[in-house]
Amino acid sequence: MFVISTENFSVWKKKQILKGGDNKSLSLLIDLLGGLSTKELSLLKIKSEKNLRLKLDLDSLEYFWDKHLSTFTPIQYLSGFSYWRDLKLEVSNKVLIPRPETELIIEIVSEIFKNKEEQITYVDLGTGSGAIGIALALSNPRWNGVATDIDKNAIEIASRNFANNSNQSNLKFYCGNWWDPLFNFKGEIDLAIANPPYIPQDNYEGLPIEVKNFEPKNALLGGEEGLDHINEIVKYAHLYLKDNGWLLIENHFDQGDRVKQLFFENRFTSVKVLKDFSGIGRFTIGRYQEIIS
Ligand SMILES: C[S@@+](CC[C@H](N)C(=O)[O-])C[C@H]1O[C@@H](n2cnc3c(N)ncnc32)[C@H](O)[C@@H]1O
Repeated sequence: MFVISTENFSVWKKKQILKGGDNKSLSLLIDLLGGLSTKELSLLKIKSEKNLRLKLDLDSLEYFWDKHLSTFTPIQYLSGFSYWRDLKLEVSNKVLIPRPETELIIEIVSEIFKNKEEQITYVDLGTGSGAIGIALALSNPRWNGVATDIDKNAIEIASRNFANNSNQSNLKFYCGNWWDPLFNFKGEIDLAIANPPYIPQDNYEGLPIEVKNFEPKNALLGGEEGLDHINEIVKYAHLYLKDNGWLLIENHFDQGDRVKQLFFENRFTSVKVLKDFSGIGRFTIGRYQEIIS
């Protein structure tokens, strides 16, 4: 720990922000690398403490800030951590930095499964850092979760994140292509969630440097129109979901209508496109209905 005078720290902070970047990113850096939370930071003025403690000295923090400004490396990758809901998750450039809009998925699920006594089996397809799967496992210890990803690095990171954020054992991890690792769960899944790669090729080329140069391409690019992975997930869902089981997919801002249509073509009912915080049709949900012959 480094003890720094509050006055020196304030001067240092002003100097950093004059170089560029924004206050929110600097606060995140001070939090994730310096160990001083955004809340503690905002209380500094009120508490008028003479000194504060940081995990790194100011020169080291400045080094990381300069690196962020000059290379556009996201703070989360520089520190190796990201906040998502109430979780602190390990991240590396092998996994997507979990996004705030994705947090809404947990609220949508808790609206669908209001009865907390109900035991369900859910799947988080393409788990990345494990964000969705872990948040759901923690939201109800009675639920049984399975999280999959094609990338074994992602599976390792997600498993560590679960172990570090919980002492529960109701989430298992499997590596493989979408539903493939779930052959033991055929017809047994109550809820499947995916935030798959859905960026269309043209949009991918125009992504900001901090995304395109650092986040894994296989977590973002969804083929020519962005729908390759969504198509595959919806098409094979019927093999794994229970009758009346739910599928929830996060999609690109302009894909809602097409994903809805895809759900209808694959025996889903109660299909809806739900909006995110910005009013964008971001999540498509529906219930699989078996054909009784
Ligand atoms: C948009 S990221 C979402 C990560 C995480 N679920 C989240 O919301 O932050 C998509 C994830 O899908 C995984 N993925 C890509 N292709 C896949 C495939 N064919 N089968 C399984 N997972 C895949 C990527 O490795 C990546 O972790």
